[in-house]
Amino acid sequence: MKGIVLAGGSGTRLHPLTRAVSKQLLPVYDKPMIYYPLSVLMLGGIRDVLIVSTPEHLPLFRALLGDGSKLGISIDYAEQRRANGIAEALVIGAEHIGGDSVALVLGDNIFHGPGFSKMLHHHTQSVDGCVLFGYAVRDPERYGVGEVDAEGRLLSIEEKPASPRSNLAVTGLYLYDGDAVDIAKNLTPSARGELEITDVNRVYLERGKARMVNLGRGFAWLDTGTHDSLLQAGQYVQVLEQRQGVRIACLEEVAFRMGFIDADACHALGAQLSKSGYGQYLMDIAAKGTR
Ligand code: DAU
Repeated sequence: MKGIVLAGGSGTRLHPLTRAVSKQLLPVYDKPMIYYPLSVLMLGGIRDVLIVSTPEHLPLFRALLGDGSKLGISIDYAEQRRANGIAEALVIGAEHIGGDSVALVLGDNIFHGPGFSKMLHHHTQSVDGCVLFGYAVRDPERYGVGEVDAEGRLLSIEEKPASPRSNLAVTGLYLYDGDAVDIAKNLTPSARGELEITDVNRVYLERGKARMVNLGRGFAWLDTGTHDSLLQAGQYVQVLEQRQGVRIACLEEVAFRMGFIDADACHALGAQLSKSGYGQYLMDIAAKGTR
């Protein structure tokens, strides 16, 4: 399975924070926002990743993450010139996907919860159709909203409906089989002029091949769309990290635990950042030596 992180857009709702910096590079406590969705792909065992962003911001992502080799993965980059819709990432990524299945994650989505790695691993093994991840929210009208039956089959999906049929928001993590690129290529832009990811999901639904897994109430799917929610996401990470002494979405740690890099490589990455607690953490993990 291939991976795509979509990290474009103009971040206008966070101006002036995002006047000169990509939203997905803003700090969420102790690391850039994009670490969180990228860690999701890596935890799903995906080692071939494409980052899609604006021509202006791509060099910043490249400076941060390089070709991915330090993490034992491969990272490529592709431009999205205008925010033409989330589904356009599948068209832009067609060559990268190359007929394979694909996990698309939004660069501003943060997922954290018990059993998530196992759940991801399970669902990325083989996808027939699409797998979406639903999350109960108080204000579903702000999101894509899905309705499922008792077996997790998707019954309906709507983008930001005025009268939602359920309280399950469709989160920004989408697993697709090899048909997704063709489906995205054949979409017509919506009234707001975008290739809508909800329309891709609706095609799978009409084919009877769409499922949605409910992430459940013990899980955190955090919003970063407003100044308040961005700060709250950082505070969530701070509380858990300080209480437990572990780090959330520490890419080097994930790479080590997934077996993408060995203890020596993990130590060396930590040593490069040794003046920060982050670097020290990596060296401690490498010294413990257990994956
Ligand atoms: O976060 C989950 C929600 O994401 C879903 O529930 C919705 O179904 C889905 O449409 C999307 O809704 P948003 O209102 O959050 O979409 P937004 O336009 O804000 O884009 C989400 C992220 O993707 C944002 O960080 C910018 C980036 N993006 C968006 C578009 C449309 C791009 O990089 N390129 C784009 O063309």
